[in-house]
Amino acid sequence: MPRLTAGARHRVAFTLNGKPVSLDAEPRLLATDALRQQLGATGTHVGCEHGACGACTIQIDGEPARACLTLAVQLEGRDVRTVEGLAPAADRLSVLQATFRRHHALQCGFCTAGILISLDAFLRTSPNPDEQELREVVGGHLCRCTGYTAIVAAALDAAATLRGEPASSVNRDPVHV
Ligand code: FES
Ligand code: FES
Repeated sequence: MPRLTAGARHRVAFTLNGKPVSLDAEPRLLATDALRQQLGATGTHVGCEHGACGACTIQIDGEPARACLTLAVQLEGRDVRTVEGLAPAADRLSVLQATFRRHHALQCGFCTAGILISLDAFLRTSPNPDEQELREVVGGHLCRCTGYTAIVAAALDAAATLRGEPASSVNRDPVHV
């Protein structure tokens, strides 16, 4: 990374959800603010602002990262994905988004973008996860609404669907556990 000067603005160019973007950023500008305020990617939520809640999780080069602990200048040259980039088309949900919907795995939705981003990255490298592994993934995210049971069921269902197996019929009731 080039030497940065406090107060100066630096051109930062990277890929956001498959499209090249750039912005001018002071060295202290957080990735959350750059994404939300300069690039309009408001699906990345801001909760605790110190790495604890997981609401701001994005993917950087395919790995989950806390955007509130990332400087915008650190995105230079990287491949960034936010929740806006999960669906294959504007009128289609990703497999994981569809199972979240089917299992009623969200309520207020504040945590959901971060959880989807983490699970999406995990399922790409772990196509056959067990419940405990998925609980560890979502354990990095605070959800005050759901109790996590439906989230884990949705993730198990998504994994099965991505493996080409029939969708689970469990936990489809519209009431959270
Ligand atoms: S806002 Fe980044 S972890 Fe909570
Ligand atoms: S659905 Fe409300 S915080 Fe998770």
